[in-house]
Amino acid sequence: MRAVMRRFTCFNEQNRLCIRNTQIYLALRLSCSIFVPQIININQKTMTKKITIAIDGHSSTGKSTMAKALARRIGYAYVDTGAMYRAVTLYALRNKLIKGEKVDEKALREHLKRGEIAITFRPTKEGKSVTCLNGKNVERYIRSMRVSNVVSIIAAIGFVRKEMVKQQQAMGKDKGVVMDGRDIGTVVFPDAEMKVFATASAEVRAQRRFDELRAKGDTTTTFEEVLENVNERDRIDSTRKESPLRQADDAVVLDNSHMSIEDQNEWLYQLYLSRVRS
Ligand code: DC
Repeated sequence: MRAVMRRFTCFNEQNRLCIRNTQIYLALRLSCSIFVPQIININQKTMTKKITIAIDGHSSTGKSTMAKALARRIGYAYVDTGAMYRAVTLYALRNKLIKGEKVDEKALREHLKRGEIAITFRPTKEGKSVTCLNGKNVERYIRSMRVSNVVSIIAAIGFVRKEMVKQQQAMGKDKGVVMDGRDIGTVVFPDAEMKVFATASAEVRAQRRFDELRAKGDTTTTFEEVLENVNERDRIDSTRKESPLRQADDAVVLDNSHMSIEDQNEWLYQLYLSRVRS
């Protein structure tokens, strides 16, 4: 039954059920008038079942791109938790709470406690979402090398993580959310119905980030610097005391070193369908 359903139906961009092959469908419908409505009922049921989707993995594996694409395709909210740690880092840099690699943790804790670091996501007219720090769009600044170089240090601080996890759990409490990060399937939503662990070789990931920086007009950072940053972040992320990056036991691994974005998106979508149908 499900094989037949998959063959003749698909979901469009608005997550509406479409008929893939109208002629065969009509023939099927004529010859079996009870069977086809049953197919549609199953789809309607799966469309309404909301789940939590956790996408964790190494830095620069394209988690955000694929998570965003999936969220848009299935009509879910998307939360980029890395952007939240980046926004806290930007705040700390701007307020001189980081000197070199040393963080003034006492002061940072006070600022957080007083609610002076408000992170929100604002939808744009183009259907995207931008990260805001205290109401201001900081998307461009949080992706800079200045922030990338020290974000792992901020993300390793226990009280920062505790506060971010609390906010992330609140954002996903009603399900219907795709959240990407490092600890979503292990700490934030250990009961998520769908967990993916994305990985790729360090060189492939560095090349992706390097291309991104060049595309944004950064002509000074070298490939070697980016590779060093990728390796260093892997080391800090997976060896830190607080919620180290690790694959959840029930996560499905996606090594996308040699996969196109389209293939990844389809892989993810099929996994989603299998989860909502089970
Ligand atoms: O995904 P990203 O590269 O934008 O993440 C930025 C940093 O934040 C990275 O060092 C890992 C850290 N991070 C984390 O510790 N936990 C998360 N849930 C998300 C990101």
